[in-house]
Amino acid sequence: MNKFYITTPIYYASGEPHIGHAFAVIFADVIARYKRQKGFDVFFLTGTDEHGSKIAEKAKAAGKNPQEYVDEISKLYADLWKSLQIQNSDFIRTTSEKHKAGVEKFIEKLWQAGDIYQGEYEGLYCAGCENFILEKDLANGLCPDHLLKPELVKEKNYFFNLKKYIPFIKEKIGNNELKIIPESRKNEILNILSANLPDFSVTREKVQWGIPFPYEKEQIIYVWADALTNYLSGLDFPDGEKFKKYWPADAHIIGADINKFHSIYWPALLMSAGIALPRKIFVHGLFTVNGQKMSKTLGNVIDPKVLIEKFGPDATRYLLLSQFPAFEHGDINENGFMEKYNADLANGVGNLFGRVFAMARRFEIKESGLDNEVVKIINETKEKYEKWMENFQLFEALKEVFVLVKFLDKYINEKQPWKSPENLPQILNSLLSGVEEIIVLLSPFMPQKMEAANDFLNRLKSGKIQPDEKLGLFPRV
Ligand code: MSP
Repeated sequence: MNKFYITTPIYYASGEPHIGHAFAVIFADVIARYKRQKGFDVFFLTGTDEHGSKIAEKAKAAGKNPQEYVDEISKLYADLWKSLQIQNSDFIRTTSEKHKAGVEKFIEKLWQAGDIYQGEYEGLYCAGCENFILEKDLANGLCPDHLLKPELVKEKNYFFNLKKYIPFIKEKIGNNELKIIPESRKNEILNILSANLPDFSVTREKVQWGIPFPYEKEQIIYVWADALTNYLSGLDFPDGEKFKKYWPADAHIIGADINKFHSIYWPALLMSAGIALPRKIFVHGLFTVNGQKMSKTLGNVIDPKVLIEKFGPDATRYLLLSQFPAFEHGDINENGFMEKYNADLANGVGNLFGRVFAMARRFEIKESGLDNEVVKIINETKEKYEKWMENFQLFEALKEVFVLVKFLDKYINEKQPWKSPENLPQILNSLLSGVEEIIVLLSPFMPQKMEAANDFLNRLKSGKIQPDEKLGLFPRV
């Protein structure tokens, strides 16, 4: 059986999850479910990133010790993933023993390769990025992404010899051995690789909340080196069966803001450790809400729990993935959710299923051939859908399904099957076959609702539906 290993970023355990965080996990879950449908043996990893200076500060501000603090936040993520029906194979936490052991082993490999050396660093450090930032990139003295004032840091660090691996990474990205999707993100990385990139430090001296560096315990392993290793430790690196079976990752799903870490640092570290590179890195855009970056101060943070309460988990998944193509940065208009829900789900799929099922209840389902016109559009939809799905273009794949939904709705209006008893069996069977296909295609996106529809349909076909039984698929809101 073919294996498929897919990951999401691990989320900073530094605050409550918002829809920006939920996006990649829903996205990856849809791909994982699609691959399972296709018979792949899927391993799907997600989790929380729990070390570093920012988290230590947050814990302090909350009057908690760091472990207690991250335990609470990590649970918020794990619980939210459950309520979004995320079927992850494991949930990795960077404060777990399993992860710490994996990181130590990984660092040992870099050390043995002779790629870690001691040096001095002086620079501006942004706790939001958990990275150094150049003076020229500041906006009014602040990090433009986090609006934080970076701290001037001068310390002894251990560095990783990134320079040694740059030509190799360039080659592997250039020839798509390591495929970065979309092309614009690949080019962005190739441009960075052409500039003179400094080595990066793999330890920090003044940070205390982290994994001690095995070769000098006063130093802590840099949070990004720690975090990236989750993709290995989640498979019980180095000796675990899962590691042997599932590595290399088939797809890392990440946001545009962390592309450099995944497409440059991560492959370099893996090469140094003598470990195969991931096959694909899929970079999605970032979203703003009502035209602005989501922030507590602006009060425009959208809590996924609120969407789940209002629309249910299936529709929440759908609404987030159907806003705009994932490759792009996009703006979410909060009021748009309701419109989209009513148009696509209540009046679209829900209404179509309702109409077809009502007809199937009213008239007997007799055996018959299918209408070629319907068969043709079903096959075309399937073909296009699969092409998009293989390319991780979920927004585009969904659009194809809705072309079929609209077609079938119009087909009922045009054929008015109830008026032509002689054509009724063929029309009804064609409609049922269309609905069955829509159920399959939408299942990875809206698993619970599609399962309910499928169950209803099967019982309908075998005459087991009770007279008063209703399938309330997507009630209008
Ligand atoms: N902990 C690091 C990742 C380590 S992976 C080895 C991190 N965490 S994060 O919580 O800040 O972000 C996690 C993911 O959420 C990133 O992929 C990021 O792009 C995504 N998003 C956070 N805000 C977002 C939006 N507003 N829009 C879309 N995705 C965004 O970075």
